[in-house]
Formats: sequence, C-alpha cells, structure tokens
Amino acid sequence: MTFTIEFQPRGLRIDCFQPINGLDAARQAGINLSSVCGGEGTCGKCVIQLLTGAENFEPSNIEKKHLSPEKLNQGYRLACQTTLDSDVKIYIPAESVIEDQILQIDGKYDSNLIQPAVHQSELELTEAHLKDLISDFSRIKTVMNDEGITAELGALRTIPLLLRKNNWKVNLWTRGKEIFHASPTHNAHSIGLAVDVGSTKIACYLMDLTNGRTLTAKGTANPQIAYGEDIMARLGYAMQGSTQAETLFHLTINAINQTAAQMCERVNLSPDNIADGCLVGNTAMHHFFLNLPTGSLAVSPFVPVINDSIYPSAQELGITAMPGAAVYVPPIIAGFIGSDHLAFLLATRFGEDQRVRLGIDIGTNTEIALQVEDRIVSVSTASGPAFEGAHIKYGMRAAPGAIEHVQISENGSVEIQVIGNQPPIGICGSGILDTVAQMRARNILNHRGRINKKAPGVRLAPNGKPEFLLNAFEKPITLSQNDVDQILLAKGAIRAGIDVLMNHLKVDVSDIEEIVIAGAFGSYMLPEHAMGIGMLPTVPLDRVKIIGNAAGAGARMMLVSTLSRAQAEELADQIEYLELTVYPDFAMFYAQGIQA
Ligand code: FES
Repeated sequence: MTFTIEFQPRGLRIDCFQPINGLDAARQAGINLSSVCGGEGTCGKCVIQLLTGAENFEPSNIEKKHLSPEKLNQGYRLACQTTLDSDVKIYIPAESVIEDQILQIDGKYDSNLIQPAVHQSELELTEAHLKDLISDFSRIKTVMNDEGITAELGALRTIPLLLRKNNWKVNLWTRGKEIFHASPTHNAHSIGLAVDVGSTKIACYLMDLTNGRTLTAKGTANPQIAYGEDIMARLGYAMQGSTQAETLFHLTINAINQTAAQMCERVNLSPDNIADGCLVGNTAMHHFFLNLPTGSLAVSPFVPVINDSIYPSAQELGITAMPGAAVYVPPIIAGFIGSDHLAFLLATRFGEDQRVRLGIDIGTNTEIALQVEDRIVSVSTASGPAFEGAHIKYGMRAAPGAIEHVQISENGSVEIQVIGNQPPIGICGSGILDTVAQMRARNILNHRGRINKKAPGVRLAPNGKPEFLLNAFEKPITLSQNDVDQILLAKGAIRAGIDVLMNHLKVDVSDIEEIVIAGAFGSYMLPEHAMGIGMLPTVPLDRVKIIGNAAGAGARMMLVSTLSRAQAEELADQIEYLELTVYPDFAMFYAQGIQA
C-alpha cells in the first residue's frame, strides 16, 4: 500500500505505506499543527480541510462537537481524529499552524561581571629528547606552573601530534583547572551559547565570552509543541514509552543545534567555536533536554530528579560545539519552578536589595516571586495557555494576522490593531486582555463576568449565547462567553498566586515598590488593562517594569560569568518554594481572583 498526502498551501507531499493519523502525517511533513490537547480530541485546534475525498471521511461525534455542519460539509475535519489511508489533498488553514508566531527573545541584558568559565593559553614547551624524557603532560604542567592541572582524555589524544607538528607550541583551552581542548594557535573567537528552552519557544544567544557581548540571537518554535501545547500533555506523551521521551529530547536538541548553526553562519563562525554553554528552562524542559526520566514530574508530589546545577559535556547532550566543551545547567527550584525562573530573578537582581518586589513571568505556568527584606518566596500557578490564544475560539499566538490591541469606545465601536497590518485571522493574548478589560470598563461585561446581551457590539452566537464582535470583515472575530470565562480563570490563577504570596509574607498592596513582568505575553500587554481586570494589584503605573525575556538575559549572564553562576546558586538556596495547592486559603483567593 503506497499513497501520497499533499499539504496545501505549502505544496508539501509525503508518501505513506500504511494508514496514518492526520496529526502524525502533518508532523512528518514538518508542519506544526496546533494541538493543545496532544491529540485527545478536546481542543479542536488541529483543523484541516480535505480538498479531495472528504465524503470518505464520515465525521466523528468529536468532530461534530467542534465543527459546524457547514464546515463539515466543506471537508473540514480534526487532523487528530482522521486516519488517512489513500491519496488525499489537504489544506492547512493559517490559524491551525503554530510556527509563524512571533518569538520574543529580547530582554534587558546587562552583565558587568564578565568572568568566563573557559580560558585559552598559548604555551611553548621544551622539546622532548633522550636526556629529557618527561611526558608531554608533565611539560605542560611545568610551563603552566600548576601541578593541579588535569586534562580530559579527548584533549590528551590531540596534544602530542599538535606539539610535534607545531614546533612544540600549543593553545590550550581550560575550564577551571581542566584542559578540555587543544588547538594549534590562539583562537581569535571565544564564543558561548546561552539558551532559554521555553515550552513555546526556544531563545538562543551567541555570546562573545571575552567581553560578554551578544553577537546574535534567534528564537525558534519549540518543536515539542506538535506533541501537546501544555506541559502536562507532553509529559503524558513522554510517559507512553522511552521512544516517545527520546523523541522530545532529540527534537529539543536538534532545534538548538539548528538555531546555533544558523546564528554561527550569520557571524561567519562555526559551531566548533562554541567553547561553553548555558541552558535554562522550566523543570519539564530541563528534564527533557537532559533526557532525564520525567515520570515523577507528571504525578503528585511532582518531584524533580535533581535540583542541583550540573555541567555535562556538550557531546553527552548532543549539542554541537568545540570538542570537550561543556554546558552549564543551573539549579532548579522545584517540580514546577525551573532554572528559567532562577535566571529571571538573577537578571532582575532579586536578592540584591531588600525592596518589596513582585516578579511575574507569565506563561502557560506562571511563576511568581515576592521579595520582602531578605526573603524571596516563589509559587507556580497553572494559568493555562489562554493568554497564548489556546482554548479561545479565535485565539492564536502573536503572529501575522493576530489582533494584538483593541480599543472599545464609549459607544461600543471597536478599533483593532493587527500584527502585519493584514486582515485579522484571530486574536492573541494582548488583544484578548485589552478586549476583556475594556468590555468590563464599558459595562459590556458585568462584575460576575457575564456578557450583557443588550450592550452594543454584542450579538447572539448560533448556540444562543452572547458574543462580542471585534470586527465585521469577511471572517468575523468574536469573543464569546466561554472565551471570557477562560481568561477569567487564567487571570484568577495569576492573581491567586500573587495574593497567596502577599498574605504569606504579610504584604499590603501599598507596600509593593516594584512589579517586574516578563514573558512573551507580558511584553505586549498593557499593565493598566491587567490591573483593570484584577490580574495585577493596582499600583502606580511607574512601579511596573516590562522586561521581555528575562530568563534569556539570566542565561546569558550565567554563560559569561562564573560570578553570576555563584550568585544564581546562592539565590537558588535563598528562594523558598510555596506549594499553592496545599496553601490553606488558596481556594478562597482563587475564587476571588476569577471575579471580573
Ligand atoms: S483536537 Fe486535535 S489536537 Fe486537540
């Protein structure tokens, strides 16, 4: 049995030899279909259109639940519910694809503590002869005037030939007191790779280790997304077996290697020049990129395999770099608080003063830290992917065609701003936040979060429920009652985390001297709207700082400075983790938090 599946509008084709699930077929073709539920049939995001032979695919009850009869007649189906077994042509709607999203990698980076972990020294040794029979390595220790020097086996294998070919001169790369690589001459480039592996995006930075400058940076979608948009879905996939877990590991490492190679090409260098690395991520990503078992993260009490920092060789991780190079992996805090949170707090200088500061990194899981005097307490709250557009009918990530900002006037007329100035195909987190905040401000939404059916701009959806119309173009974009409910749940989870911390550390809103907000969604949202819907406590706007990808900035600091690594390890010891689900009044704070 051989058949061909053709994907339009990209014109991609794959040949198959046995029946294949539509989601897997798209993955094979290299198309990242949105699959929030990981193929369970509950999210309705993996929509495809069968351009040929739709009549052969009787819609399932699940598909009937997510797609209107009209859509079903037009050949729309859910990829994860479709088994393909003969030649077929498939159209992938733009809103079903997740790879064109804008990947936010900028963040305020400032390192005045340049002290790289790797160094190179050019040595000239005395030549061995019959009256001087000491070993090559003893000669090196003598010239370096350090008996404590050690050498990696790989370096020892290359040194003798280099010495004899190069007139007894050699350039040695050391990490601490260990020689890990040898080259004929001093390398003009000493570069490092810092990576923040997020659930949605992987942000990579190529750094000059001698001066701490960022040579270039690049973001790429985390390819694990094709196996579920939220962490639990991916952990569930990894638990299916070692092949599945290895798939997530290899996908992550391949994406890092590809991005690093592209960045090296931009600056006319080779990945072989990468002498050191630093990888951060939330705890699940940390376990995936280290290829550690993730089973314990998926079930209560959600404990990680290891908290401490480790410094494995790049080769062991599969990262393409200079032979002998290693990758620093900072400590993680707990099952749901990873080294990305630590990197965020390091970059934003938590622990360096005693001000009352709130740090919030908004994502599918939102990590929140509250600093009061010399205490820093962190929580992780399952805010869900609603602010990334998931579980929202017209939700999408920030990508061309997404409504990113919305203005609703007193009379209910709506102005929208669309990424790429093109007709809208959906709405991203910042647009959703604007809409809900202003619907509330204009009384289109009451304090219980119900849409007022009689308010201007509100119409009844085919299911009889009210929805707010954002535009009346060819493809109307609306925000439904269900969408509003999802946003209130998400913001309620964040606010409950903040309130628990304030209650725990006996902090009043008026005590808060600074709120620092990181994360892709956080970078585009308007803080006044976040306060308007009660997601953030109301403080003067000049106390709120939006700082972009702070985890990436922290990873860069730790890459170029062993002092920053030491600071991060101290900070990790200082951070107290608070488990929200067992906090006595968490349910009460959550119930308050979801009010509109
Ligand atoms: S419904 Fe298909 S991936 Fe969620």
